[in-house]
Amino acid sequence: MRLTRGPIGPVRSIFAARTFAVPRTCGRSRTRGTALTRGGRLGATSRRSTEAPIPTDKALSWAYSEEYLPESDVVLRARDRAAQLGCTPVLPGAGAVLRVLAAAVQPRAVVEIGTGAGVSALYLLEGMPEDGVLTTIDVEAEHQRAAKLAFAEASIRPTRTRTISGRASDVLPRLTDGGYDMVLVDADKESAAYYVAQALRLLRRGGVLVVDNALWHDRVADPARRDEATTILREIGRSVREDDRLVPALLPSGDGLLVAVRR
Ligand SMILES: C[S@@+](CC[C@H](N)C(=O)[O-])C[C@H]1O[C@@H](n2cnc3c(N)ncnc32)[C@H](O)[C@@H]1O
Repeated sequence: MRLTRGPIGPVRSIFAARTFAVPRTCGRSRTRGTALTRGGRLGATSRRSTEAPIPTDKALSWAYSEEYLPESDVVLRARDRAAQLGCTPVLPGAGAVLRVLAAAVQPRAVVEIGTGAGVSALYLLEGMPEDGVLTTIDVEAEHQRAAKLAFAEASIRPTRTRTISGRASDVLPRLTDGGYDMVLVDADKESAAYYVAQALRLLRRGGVLVVDNALWHDRVADPARRDEATTILREIGRSVREDDRLVPALLPSGDGLLVAVRR
């Protein structure tokens, strides 16, 4: 795996390459029924197929997807400031998904929980319509100062962003029920389940919930990992999947994006 651009660099050490064997999915002799086994190998549940598995490398494809779209200089500078401040922004693939979701939903009102240095906000704002307003919350005033600098560099009109400095648990209860088209959860993991519950209150029908780090450094998929953040994110994935009010999907972009539409 060869990766050249800066923002991906740190990711390489987190996401080690693994090889998957994927049975062919079309043609008459396709094996009926496959099951994902521990270690990521797609195993046949029937012995009828005589075809050799097609070797694939999901880590390579993931890295290719992350590099698929180049990032603007404004985003790269925001990443540098985020690194200096010690807050981790969404990875490029996750940013691209945020932008495409915003472009599809055309939200007039978005809530972001966890501004950081503004990387995810830049992606959201690029996809949102010109009259859409991003309300972004962060407990660290210094992070929001960096984000505002990024917004200015991107020539984003000040009326398009509402930055609220404070603990999300204090700010969210003050926001209007059903008043938002999209909510991104990307702050402290300890309170992430509470943020998701608040997001469901804030979203209108048809609105979109997004939770970043839903695969949390590949630990969520490994049942042996039971540290606090992993357990919280795994439990959020389970509760979103079982919530009849939601139409969910778990995307492997970035560090995992849990996306769900409010019915
Ligand atoms: C992962 S960073 C956000 C990155 C940002 N979404 C991006 O992609 O550019 C998490 C942010 O959550 C903020 N944060 C942590 N605890 C918080 C809390 N209780 N309330 C609000 N923000 C909090 C941190 O200050 C940090 O800026």
